[in-house]
Amino acid sequence: MDKIRYEDLLTIQEDMYKEKIPDEVLELFKHNSPPNHYRFLYLFVKKYQPEVIVELGTHWGISASAMAKGNPKATVHTIDIQKYDKHFNNDSNIKEYLGSSIDVDIVKQIPNQIELLFSDSGHSYELTVDEYWDYLPKMKDGGVIFFDDIFSAEGTKIFWDNLDVEKIVLYDVHLEFGFGAVIVRK
Ligand SMILES: C[S@@+](CC[C@H](N)C(=O)[O-])C[C@H]1O[C@@H](n2cnc3c(N)ncnc32)[C@H](O)[C@@H]1O
Repeated sequence: MDKIRYEDLLTIQEDMYKEKIPDEVLELFKHNSPPNHYRFLYLFVKKYQPEVIVELGTHWGISASAMAKGNPKATVHTIDIQKYDKHFNNDSNIKEYLGSSIDVDIVKQIPNQIELLFSDSGHSYELTVDEYWDYLPKMKDGGVIFFDDIFSAEGTKIFWDNLDVEKIVLYDVHLEFGFGAVIVRK
């Protein structure tokens, strides 16, 4: 994956609705609203082609599928503590893990050199902090972490507000829910 700067993320955000998105991807977005963050995740992966992608919180698999469709050569490792009906029946590049994102056995199975981490699980303060410290050592230098719901979930908001690293909020990506980004520098 090419070196990413915060300006690049702002550019993707700005152009989010100018870019052409294939119909099968647009179809996926209809399962939830507002879908801007799915669009953003898809466009980010399509543009930068990360190959090691990890998602904390699969739920219906919409974001997992959006990222998987952005780069068919990537593997999207997605973890959820519960099993739901999924929307990614066609994506052979998704690997599912059933259990807690901070379970030692699960963390051990997740590869190192993560290029994209999408943090979108339980949203309690404690869980978000533990996830951050469990997965940070597994990140590649220059890798990107996206945090969802940094305004709408109290725990994630406290985590985000106290996160003492260079970071940006992508205000148009998930509107009132809040979407933040950190580029990891090692
Ligand atoms: C907001 S949903 C994920 C949505 C999904 N990323 C998307 O955008 O399509 C949050 C998910 O996190 C899961 N979750 C909660 N606590 C978790 C934990 N400790 N480990 C893994 N997943 C967890 C929930 O079961 C739920 O499915």
